[in-house]
Amino acid sequence: MQTLLLKVDPQKPNEKVIEIAASLIKQGETVAFPTETVYGVGADAMNEKAVEGIFAAKRRKMDNPLLVHVNSWEQASGLVTEVPGEVLVLVKEFWPGPLTFIAKAGDKIPAPVRAGLPTVGLRMPDHPVALALIKAAGSPIAATSANISGRPSPTVAEHVKADLSGRIGAIVDAGETGWGIESTILDVSKTPFKILRTGAVSWERLEKVLPGLISKPAGVHKWKRITPRYQPLVQIVPIKYGEQMAEAVEREILKGRRTGAVFISEQKLPTSLDFVRVIRGGPQEYARVLFDIFRAADQNRLECLFMEMPVERGLGVAVADRIIQAARP
Ligand code: TXA
Ligand code: MG
Repeated sequence: MQTLLLKVDPQKPNEKVIEIAASLIKQGETVAFPTETVYGVGADAMNEKAVEGIFAAKRRKMDNPLLVHVNSWEQASGLVTEVPGEVLVLVKEFWPGPLTFIAKAGDKIPAPVRAGLPTVGLRMPDHPVALALIKAAGSPIAATSANISGRPSPTVAEHVKADLSGRIGAIVDAGETGWGIESTILDVSKTPFKILRTGAVSWERLEKVLPGLISKPAGVHKWKRITPRYQPLVQIVPIKYGEQMAEAVEREILKGRRTGAVFISEQKLPTSLDFVRVIRGGPQEYARVLFDIFRAADQNRLECLFMEMPVERGLGVAVADRIIQAARP
């Protein structure tokens, strides 16, 4: 399959280009597009065959449901049955934006989208290109992060190309995505509402809007979650925030291993490191560069990557969560 590459301005996407991408969606093709979190690959949510194409392209197991991307709450509400009133409060505050709701599905959504579950994930992305594409397609778009399953989510079109070129209909390239990590997934099909995946909207922000209604996720070392599980080739070694990593780093270098370090606080490190990234812009910057670091580490054929953990607060929780997941053997 030839993958069409389409470049657009992220703020003012060219209508003709969006039309081309939308016509592919209407024809049942798969298209990768930017959102404010990461790049997604999507298809017409109402077209079962098209949706199956996403699973094939990503080598994704059919038991792993997709998210339905909409351009309004009205469009979303037609796809679900009961929704508690508090959800509307969250919609008002966070949509469009990186908060995904898991709600009881109506019977309109094809089974493969939900992987046969009685619930469905609903998301309204805060990105002009994604919103224009959904509008022009005239249908909600079922989508998932545009990576081969098991690899980090793509934050630039180059990542998408590396994984899915030749496997999907088109890639709409609008440069780097905003947050760099995926949306927060909140299960509102039961009370209390529960965070299933940490993401760009922190628990603290949700708690402020609906005090006492959303259970706080346990520390990242403890809780059961559905955070994407990457399998980088490099061994990732998390280091506690503020702890010196020099000794541990040196031991690896002495063993002759290609070693890297990602750090936040002041560290005195050997100059012979093969890979170094300093994060000075807080968890926001860490989130933005995290997945590129995972990919770059493998590209550099690193064997060991030390990563200083952000403080587990606000957006730092989602970053820490993804580092811990990537570090699991
Ligand atoms: O930011 C995002 O959410 C990105 C952009 C592209 O929108 N999308 C994304 O999709 O991260 P994906 O498929 O990579 O992750 C969605 C997660 C998966 O772990 C899936 O199992 C879970 O959401 N999920 C989807 N529907 C669900 C449901 N009905 N119940 C529980 N989990 C669900
Ligand atoms: Mg994913």
